[in-house]
Amino acid sequence: MNRTLRVLTIFGTRPEAVKLFPVIHALADDPRFDSRVCVSAQHRAMLDQVLEIAGITPDHDLDLMRPDQSLDALTAALLVSLGRVMDEEKPDRVVVQGDTATAMCGALAAYYRKIPVAHVEAGLRSGDIYQPWPEEINRKIIGTMAALHLAPTETAAAALRAEKVDPACVHVTGNTVIDALHWVQDRIAAEPALAEGLAGLEQRFAGKRIIGVTSHRRENFGGGLEAIADAVRRIAAREDVAIIFPVHPNPNVRRVMDGALAGLPNVALIEPLDYPNFARLLGISELMLTDSGGVQEEAPALGKPVLVMRETTERPEGVIAGTAKLVGTDADTIVSETFRLLDDADAYAAMSRAHNPFGDGRSAARIRDLLAAPLKSS
Ligand code: UD1
Ligand code: UDP
Repeated sequence: MNRTLRVLTIFGTRPEAVKLFPVIHALADDPRFDSRVCVSAQHRAMLDQVLEIAGITPDHDLDLMRPDQSLDALTAALLVSLGRVMDEEKPDRVVVQGDTATAMCGALAAYYRKIPVAHVEAGLRSGDIYQPWPEEINRKIIGTMAALHLAPTETAAAALRAEKVDPACVHVTGNTVIDALHWVQDRIAAEPALAEGLAGLEQRFAGKRIIGVTSHRRENFGGGLEAIADAVRRIAAREDVAIIFPVHPNPNVRRVMDGALAGLPNVALIEPLDYPNFARLLGISELMLTDSGGVQEEAPALGKPVLVMRETTERPEGVIAGTAKLVGTDADTIVSETFRLLDDADAYAAMSRAHNPFGDGRSAARIRDLLAAPLKSS
């Protein structure tokens, strides 16, 4: 194919922005592509934090976030608005990432127009349609329509082949989150001031052992989040520990965490960190407690043990490599597994070897080259 390919990259949330900015950078530097960017802004402040550090100005910003948005209202708005952008841009390929409502609707709107879809981070499966909810189904829906399945690992590629996806359309690229992490580490090395946002807390908690916490999964709303908050409160009762917890702005998360944890001396409930400062938090934390997908991938690369506060994971590679452990949302288990890592040097050493099961930092270049090749359905 000799002519310039118009690629429309669509995303809407913080993790998609983190995992797609390396691809957008790669496309921008390559004369084979006319790269266009559309953000749904399903997230607002958290998306803008990533756009700013990555230096990306979208060609389209749909500004769709509403407070405490419902999945059906969001889905309806996304489908109509993204379709309009495609009618205007007439892209040769649409790129979506992962499993959000934006990614699912972007793929569906493209399919309605017979535009080939490239799915970055394809093939993740927990095997349970309610964990993570609704992400497991979003991924499966995208997987039924995509022309190019860009699997981060061999496990993910095998899951797609098991679902009878044409193996010629499945490629193992690594996860672009590792590209993003390397990129931000280089930026911080060149400009340390970018990651000094935690200096005040580092001073306040000097001498304590830092634990980083994040939590936002919809399937954990209600009892799961309350149990996580209870566990954090009990862990923070230890004198030698301090918790730094950037709280997701979803009101269902804020309500629980503010109610249970505000004002505790060893707990800092803070606003979401921009990516350089979150990388700093990963660096200074002895371990991470999280239900995040992305954090499960980043922490092993830095040799930080992760206790995953979910019942299942579609990212088994971290568990197999030994740096991640599923602890569910039972408060007693979260507390006892955290104390084990704090008090048993051998257990900690076994989980803190740096591994990169998710990628080598060169995923975006592979994805760029796969996007340039002719597709089966184009
Ligand atoms: C979404 C994704 C989830 C992803 C997560 C990453 C869906 C269905 N869910 O979940 O897969 O893991 O993002 O964080 O696509 N809000 C703000 N400011 C922001 C962002 C969110 O105030 O910058 C609040 C708003 O009240 C918003 C709510 O959070 O309505 C929920 O946002 P939404 O994108 O629907 O869901 P998340 O729980 O963030
Ligand atoms: N992250 C961030 N600031 C924070 C918390 C997380 O920049 O305060 C980054 C983190 O490094 C990872 C991504 O956001 O790259 C994960 O997003 P999130 O946990 O919201 O979504 P998930 O990965 O679970 O879909």
